[in-house]
Amino acid sequence: MSDVPTPVHPLVRIDYEQPACPTRHAWARVPVEPAPDERAALKDQIRRLLKERHAVMVSHYYVHPDLQDLAEETGGLVSDSLEMARFGRDHAATTLVVSGVRFMGETAKILSPGKRVLMPDLDATCSLDLGCPVDEFSAFCDAHPDRTVVVYANTSAAVKARADWLVTSSCALDIVRALKDQGQKILWAPDKHLGGYIQRETGADMLMWNGSCIVHDEFKAFELEALKKEHPRAKLLVHPESPADVIALADAVGSTSAILKAAREMEAREFIVATDNGMMHKLRTLNPGKLFIEAPTAGESATCKSCAHCPWMAMNGLAGLAQALETGANDVHIDPALGVRARLPIDRMLAFTAAQRLGQPAAGLVPRIGAA
Ligand code: 13P
Ligand code: SF4
Repeated sequence: MSDVPTPVHPLVRIDYEQPACPTRHAWARVPVEPAPDERAALKDQIRRLLKERHAVMVSHYYVHPDLQDLAEETGGLVSDSLEMARFGRDHAATTLVVSGVRFMGETAKILSPGKRVLMPDLDATCSLDLGCPVDEFSAFCDAHPDRTVVVYANTSAAVKARADWLVTSSCALDIVRALKDQGQKILWAPDKHLGGYIQRETGADMLMWNGSCIVHDEFKAFELEALKKEHPRAKLLVHPESPADVIALADAVGSTSAILKAAREMEAREFIVATDNGMMHKLRTLNPGKLFIEAPTAGESATCKSCAHCPWMAMNGLAGLAQALETGANDVHIDPALGVRARLPIDRMLAFTAAQRLGQPAAGLVPRIGAA
């Protein structure tokens, strides 16, 4: 059909026969749950191969519980995207096995070009990354040369290579606040909800790219208010990729690690959680006496009722990971010159957050880098 728009990406090609699910192609790639004996055999194979290949696992909180547990059991890490980047850079292993989405593997490779970086499925992308193509983004930057370019980690290496600063949801607020205190105006991409939250909190002058996360965008304030009435003592924990009216209801807003910390530290026994439901595994195992309820998505009348789970995170499975370790397939490649430029904003973020931990002033603040 000539009037059908060109798909933005093969995995998010909208099926015009069934427009209700724009990510059905990604869901079709999600591996089936292995049978118990196959699952045990795959785990044994992965444990053995990690040792043989001098490899370490780095997993995000949204991936399958098996990939989280195996990472921890074998001396790897489960964390938010900031800590994944830091851990991968600092670990002595010669191979990093990143379970998450592609930008996480790319960030690991940019920070450790000498290491092999493997992923269970290289096509595991992110709607924020897909929604910010580098050519359009570069044109946006070119049109606003007076602004400091701050991009979220959920972007391609090429977009990072156009940025002055990289941020994740755990440090975005502090970095933008520091830039604002220096009198800088911000060009922000790609997540409009996270950007809007930071703008409201800091009062910074921020020009926004219009991107969003397909998972968090589905949380609805109206449905949440109804759920809160059913659970009046529950505290609401929200990831800042959620819409403004959802964030406005929150008792705590923050990155996946911040959500975990809030759940551990808050007195409450009941929590409603507005983030990807992969998070429930760690929330529940680390807080056995507490009740965690998934925030509702869309409305009962909506044509597409999201399941609050990222299809691209769900593409990570034991079999893909074992195969990557066995064969070296799914090796992340970054053009070396691009990697050198993309590393600058990442290093700034890591220097900023490292200085902050030591209680030092914002040592990472340096002039704008500008176009490569
Ligand atoms: P965190 O950095 O909070 O883990 O977020 C990553 C992400 O993709 C959330 O959707
Ligand atoms: Fe991207 Fe949203 Fe998936 Fe996170 S949950 S990786 S922001 S699509």
